[in-house]
Amino acid sequence: MRIYPKYTEAELKKLGLVGKLPEHIGIIMDGNGRWAKQRLMPRSAGHRAGMEALQDIVRTSHSLGIGALTVYAFSTENWGRPAAEIDALMSLLVEYFYKEIDELDANNVRIRTLGELSRFAPKLRTLMETAVQRTENNTGLNFSIAINYGSRAEIVRAVKMLVEEGIPAESITEKCFAEHLYTGELPELDLIIRTAGEQRLSNFLLYQAAYAEFVFTETLFPAFTPEVYCDCIKEFMHRTRRFGKVKE
Ligand code: IPE
Ligand code: IPE
Ligand code: MG
Repeated sequence: MRIYPKYTEAELKKLGLVGKLPEHIGIIMDGNGRWAKQRLMPRSAGHRAGMEALQDIVRTSHSLGIGALTVYAFSTENWGRPAAEIDALMSLLVEYFYKEIDELDANNVRIRTLGELSRFAPKLRTLMETAVQRTENNTGLNFSIAINYGSRAEIVRAVKMLVEEGIPAESITEKCFAEHLYTGELPELDLIIRTAGEQRLSNFLLYQAAYAEFVFTETLFPAFTPEVYCDCIKEFMHRTRRFGKVKE
C-alpha cells in the first residue's frame, strides 16, 4: 500500500507552484470515449484508463496539500448512454471502491459522494456507503465523487429539504442554502478543470461555481497526468480573482 508523500515548500517551488494553492478543485473528467476511439478500443477501455489516471490525481492532490477534490464521475444525464457502457462503468466503480478504499483510508483521505445513490445496485451502493462511513473521521484530503449527480437535481433537493424542515422564508440565507447542498461541509470551490476540450459545465456544481476559475485543457482524461494537473493549477495561480471588487 502506498503512503503518499507531502511535498515540501521547496518541492512545490520546483513544480512552479508558488503562492496560494486552490483550496477546493472540481474536475470534469471528460474524454474517456475519445481516448479509446483514438486507439480503436472499446469505450470501456477508456473508462478503465480514466480510473487509473484518477488514482494519480488523488495522490497528487494529497501531496500538494489541496483541501478538497471533487470529481465528476457520472451525471444524471449519463443514464442515457447505452446499457453496456453503463454496466461497464458500474463494474469499474465497484472495482475502484474495492481496490482503493484501504489505500485512501491509510492516507487519511475522507471520501464523500455527491448524488442520489438509491438508483445504484445494492452492491455498489453498500460499497460507497461503507467507504464514506469508514473514512468520515479522516482529516486529510476531502475527496468527493459526484455520481448520479446533477446540479439542478441537487438544487431542487436542497429546496425540498428546506421546505420539509419547515424553515421560514425569511430565515433562508445563501449560507443556509449552501449548507443543504451536497458540498455543504466543503470549502468554497476555487477551480474547475475540464479535460478534453469542451467548455461547458454539463450540470456540474452550478451554484458552487459562482466565483470559481475555469481551466480547460485539450488533454483527454486518461492522459491527464499529474504534470498536466499541476499546469492547470499553475494557470489558476496566475489568475487575478476580483470577486466583484476593484483590485489595486
Ligand atoms: C467521461 O468521458 C466519462 C463519463 C462521462 C462517464 P466520456 O465517456 O464522456 O468521453 P467522451 O466525451 O465521449 O470522449
Ligand atoms: C460530463 O461529461 C459528465 C462527466 C464527466 C461525468 P459528458 O461527456 O457527459 O458531458 P457532455 O455530454 O459532453 O456535455
Ligand atoms: Mg464526454
